[in-house]
Amino acid sequence: MTPLTAAFAHAITTTLLPVVTRAVAPTDMAEMRAMLERSSSETRYRRFMVPMPRIGDALLRRLTAAGSGAVAVALDGRIVGAAHYGDLDGDAEIAVIVEDGWQRHGVGRVLMRDIADRAHADGYATATGCILRDNRAANRFLDATAPGARSVYDGPYRTFFVDLSLIPG
Ligand SMILES: CC(C)(COP(=O)(O)OP(=O)(O)OC[C@H]1O[C@@H](n2cnc3c(N)ncnc32)[C@H](O)[C@@H]1OP(=O)(O)O)[C@@H](O)C(=O)NCCC(=O)NCCS
Repeated sequence: MTPLTAAFAHAITTTLLPVVTRAVAPTDMAEMRAMLERSSSETRYRRFMVPMPRIGDALLRRLTAAGSGAVAVALDGRIVGAAHYGDLDGDAEIAVIVEDGWQRHGVGRVLMRDIADRAHADGYATATGCILRDNRAANRFLDATAPGARSVYDGPYRTFFVDLSLIPG
């Protein structure tokens, strides 16, 4: 069995998902662009909180920089979701996106676990992030994947803070 086949076999038996997660790499630019282009404008807006009629190269370079996050890859090699984190005042600021056609299949949950592990390995104890208060899916997602999160509500935003050890495996 090749390492990749073994990784998919492991993913399918442990998560029942034909998706593996791995570190994002600069070589993912084309697949990252394709995933964002398959995503609806609403999904992109919810992730980036700005309208994004086109996907710029500078953004793609940031999203595929080594050490910036993880991608979920389907059996056919497509990237179907991504999670990123960066430093925000000593906390790991995290954000997740799953393309519309793959939502509600557990991909976001696997990415959340993956990015929490990466941030923890990099020495972070706490994660933070911001979602829109009217983004029902993200609010439910956060409640499900980071049940111990503390939240601060300000205008249209919900900022959360969570001890990384409280994100369930
Ligand atoms: C939020 C998002 C990442 C969730 O990804 P996902 O792969 O669909 O989530 P999962 O399938 O892993 O769901 C995990 C849990 O979250 C909750 N959840 C996710 N989407 C939900 C929805 N639309 N309605 C209600 N609950 C939802 C459920 O509790 C779900 O568990 P269950 O399926 O066992 O009930 C995805 O909807 C997305 O990319 N949205 C646009 C970008 C965004 O809002 N990002 C968050 C801000 S950074």
